[in-house]
Amino acid sequence: MNQDQLKESVAKAALDYIQPKLSEDSVIGVGTGSTANYFIDALATIKTSFDGAVASSEATAERLKAHGIPVYELNSVSYLEFYVDGADETNDQLELIKGGGGALTREKIVAAVANEFVCIIDDSKMVNILGEFPLPIEVLPMARSFVAREIVKIGGDPVYREGFVTDNGNIILDVHNMDLSAPITVEQRINQITGVVTNGLFAYRPADVVLMGTAEGVKTLK
Ligand code: 5RP
Repeated sequence: MNQDQLKESVAKAALDYIQPKLSEDSVIGVGTGSTANYFIDALATIKTSFDGAVASSEATAERLKAHGIPVYELNSVSYLEFYVDGADETNDQLELIKGGGGALTREKIVAAVANEFVCIIDDSKMVNILGEFPLPIEVLPMARSFVAREIVKIGGDPVYREGFVTDNGNIILDVHNMDLSAPITVEQRINQITGVVTNGLFAYRPADVVLMGTAEGVKTLK
């Protein structure tokens, strides 16, 4: 199986995982990226059995709507049973790096609201220690240089993601070579820097379950 086939298989497994708990009133939080796209396509096959979705990005909203799945503003929804999304890295504590696609802030907000965060990955994303993948940070544009200098002070090498603007109108710094062996501490430390919107560590609120596509089948990590 290639990586795309693993992503598709784990997206279908996520559908099987959530389907028994869905009712016609259910609204599902949906993530961003290629794995989430496979999930959206799978979700479309059961679109009459739930109410709609909250999207973590404009791209996801477009894909949901193209399938005829109603998309709600998060502020109009009081309860999300599930948030389903991919990740760039996962460790065995189900802590994540996300934001390779630049949607980390909305992803973190929707994940925070959801009762259960179901993370879907292929097995290339599983690591012992987070940080091989550069950590994305969403930053207000006028704070870019200041935040970059502050990141250097705490041991990271920030790289400006050229030509990229988030759905919120901000910029991304991708931080290389940062020690992420204490993910919750680092997540909170970076978020204290003035001008940071949020960073792509999902450790304070990790995934609740990780479904991992492997050549031997989908594994469930809790
Ligand atoms: C987007 C994300 C994605 O979940 C992450 O980048 C994984 O993407 P893919 O499923 O395409 O590998 O955090 O901001």
